Amino acid sequence: MAGTEGVDGGVGATALLVAAARAIETHRPDSLARDVYAEHFVRAAPASAGWPVRIGQVPDGDANPLWGRFARYFGLRTRVLDDFLVRSAGAGIRQVVLLGAGLDTRAFRLDWPAGCTVFEIDREAVLAFKHRVLGGLAAAPTALRVPVPVDLREDWVGALTAAGFERSAPTVWLAEGLLFYLPSAAETELFDTVDRLSAPGSSLAYEVKLDRDLLEYRTSPLYTATAEQIGIDLLSLFIGEPRPDSAGALAGRGWCTCVRTPFDYTREHGRGPLPESNDALAGNRWVFANKPTALG
Ligand SMILES: C[S@@+](CC[C@H](N)C(=O)[O-])C[C@H]1O[C@@H](n2cnc3c(N)ncnc32)[C@H](O)[C@@H]1O
Repeated sequence: MAGTEGVDGGVGATALLVAAARAIETHRPDSLARDVYAEHFVRAAPASAGWPVRIGQVPDGDANPLWGRFARYFGLRTRVLDDFLVRSAGAGIRQVVLLGAGLDTRAFRLDWPAGCTVFEIDREAVLAFKHRVLGGLAAAPTALRVPVPVDLREDWVGALTAAGFERSAPTVWLAEGLLFYLPSAAETELFDTVDRLSAPGSSLAYEVKLDRDLLEYRTSPLYTATAEQIGIDLLSLFIGEPRPDSAGALAGRGWCTCVRTPFDYTREHGRGPLPESNDALAGNRWVFANKPTALG
């Protein structure tokens, strides 16, 4: 994984994949989440300019494993994590850090309370592309938006602090679709750091995959369709190392954690992916954690 690449290759291109999925979700009559900016990213990048942004543009429609089921998965994930962030802000948190923000437009889409700051951490070339596209749309953020161009394997705390992050204020952290691309040691260090930077009352959500998902489901239609249709070989981008038990480590430090499957939310919302055989989503878990206030 090169540190300088933008959205046109390697792990940066996965941000376009999620943007295309959000565009498709946005145009569904029963959409779980709306992101009107998503299709503009897809159209603007040479790597994705020919990808669909509506399910009607996919010849086999919802039967297509990539633009049907996988895209719906991203739509559901977007909705669940939107709700989590809005809930955290509603509970009084005014500082938001998006780790591996990619083409996340929550700083523009969500109804933030007054006084919220959204820090977006990603590599410089990804944020530069995002800036260029959003600039062309004259998009107006609904919070104070602070891009922090830095690689999470480098001194991101220094960059975040220099950008105005306040350690004494509770923070809501999000690592959506990020941890698969980080070495296990980097994940452990990331959460050590998040814990250290989190004032009581902070919250955190992230997505992980159980180890077995990587190899046991390597012939899953989700992986093969993504590689064949858009040339993104997710398995070659994922770091194939045993993963740390980050939820356990956070619990050991006093965080209250809750681990859910995406399918729990499909059932809750009445739409989204359900389990199937040889399923690349079988090991996906969404983890939510809160650092209690001093009084608990
Ligand atoms: C699948 S995308 C997800 C983007 C966004 N969180 C979302 O869900 O739409 C993964 C993102 O992680 C970023 N990323 C991966 N490794 C990174 C690193 N070492 N430092 C900073 N960003 C990284 C990529 O550039 C990419 O934007």
